[in-house]
Amino acid sequence: MSSTTHAPVAGSDRVASEAARRRTFAIISHPDAGKTTLTEKLLLYSGAVAEAGAVKARSGRREVTSDWMDLERRRGISVSSTALRFEHRDVVFNLLDTPGHRDFSEDTLRVLAAADCAVILLDAARGVEAQTLKLFEVARARGIPLITFVNKYDRPGMEPLELIDHVEQTLGLSAVPISWPVGIPGDFRGVLDRDGGRFVRFTRTARGATMAPEQELSAQLARDEEGDAWTAAVEELELLHAAGAAWDRARFAGGELTPVLFGSALSNFGVRHLLDTLIELAPPPAGRVDADGGVRALQAPFSALVFKVQANMDPRHRDRIAFMRICSGRFERGMRALNARTGRPIALAYAHELFGQDRTVVDDAYPGDVIGIVNATDVLVGDTLYVDEPVRFGAIPTLAPEHFVTVQNRDPSRSKQFRRGLQQLDQEGVVHVLRRGDDPAPILAAVGPLQFDVAVERLQGEFGVSVGLDARDWSLARRVSPDDAAAVRASRWAELLTRADGTQLAVFRHRYSLEQLERDLPDVALDAMTAR
Ligand code: G4P
Repeated sequence: MSSTTHAPVAGSDRVASEAARRRTFAIISHPDAGKTTLTEKLLLYSGAVAEAGAVKARSGRREVTSDWMDLERRRGISVSSTALRFEHRDVVFNLLDTPGHRDFSEDTLRVLAAADCAVILLDAARGVEAQTLKLFEVARARGIPLITFVNKYDRPGMEPLELIDHVEQTLGLSAVPISWPVGIPGDFRGVLDRDGGRFVRFTRTARGATMAPEQELSAQLARDEEGDAWTAAVEELELLHAAGAAWDRARFAGGELTPVLFGSALSNFGVRHLLDTLIELAPPPAGRVDADGGVRALQAPFSALVFKVQANMDPRHRDRIAFMRICSGRFERGMRALNARTGRPIALAYAHELFGQDRTVVDDAYPGDVIGIVNATDVLVGDTLYVDEPVRFGAIPTLAPEHFVTVQNRDPSRSKQFRRGLQQLDQEGVVHVLRRGDDPAPILAAVGPLQFDVAVERLQGEFGVSVGLDARDWSLARRVSPDDAAAVRASRWAELLTRADGTQLAVFRHRYSLEQLERDLPDVALDAMTAR
């Protein structure tokens, strides 16, 4: 199914030039590190909003673009992901939101399948927190370029050299600052350009509502005006030049080296620099590897990968949206594509891009863009849609669940809704729904227990089903092939659960049981990453 040798289709020059000016990225961070603020400021600098506050209401409510569930608002975390499109310096950015909690790492994994680059956003005082390390590991495993933005530098925090060391130690990446803060954390004055020796001085604006004026000073003038703060920054940078990792574009492209920027999203410091860095360093969309190892070239006919399906996102629009990243060709509203999994056609009539709660109808879109297809009933996460030349992209990985519960429907008169609700949540990847043999009670499995809260809330809110959960004591799962299933089932160390798509998972109470099984059945392949 490889299309490496296809003849370019009409308009392919346009596709190539539009793809070249796209940057599709995600921001990964711990809750409270400032992702919402930074997103808002990126929009401010790109001119997509005139004044900061349009995305996140300043009333104190956490009215965030992607907070479309009450649960998210109550917990103050973002559960779902969304995509924002905006332009800066003639570059079209697609910003994919990811949830900031390890319990939703699988969602992050799906989003990253659609991104070409990720921004790791850190709070200068807290650095990489244990709870979110898993999210970063997921980003690291994807092998895409990572850019680190150290936020909240306007407040007391770690010293910059300490931060660089911390990033290297915790993330296992080489960290190379491309700018260096002048002024101690809490008295942030601006940044020193790593190579050019220029100083960019920032000036605060009231509440950071408008862009921060930036003034460029020569080294001489900076020394005169900033005194010790300037000298300290220059000395630290010299130290890093001598002892730190050197910039290496290939290592950056492979996700082994991360450039580091310092800033303050709240005060707008360093926001423009981040946008410019994304333009200069983040890769534009490239041909995508398909399931057979071929490459779907950008100029090939339309193809897209579905990385998220979400139903009932907005109470004003009860529907089911399939989010897809365009991988090749040009999308035109009304076009008909085929679903590689089912072989069935799908009319892409109502494609939307989302901006906060608002939807805009998309007439055309190019590789790197993310569009949401409304009422895509027969579409699942991981599906490939294509036109003309068949292609199927590789499955999106999922993580092995670590938490399990049995779920009971409390109201027998709503068993149909119960079944439908579970199917919906399984298809969206909110939780995995599993069965054990002939046992009718479904088992929910998740990477983190917050996923169960979302499932319960959605079953109640969208399907009118009240459920009870009973915790099970398994804590590990491994995928087993159908050939090995009988041997695993017969073993005393594991139990076997089955997902609706036929995937079989061996579940274990302790690591000890897993190790025993590995010893007893050395030929059985146990896979920690499953696929959807
Ligand atoms: P999140 O989406 O990652 O969860 O973080 P969010 O942007 O909501 O920011 C969390 C808190 O950190 C907010 O304060 C926000 O104003 C603050 N913040 C974000 N960036 C910076 C920064 O660069 N410097 C400083 N000092 N603070 C920053 P809050 O009090 O929780 O909310 P709010 O009342 O300010 O909206």
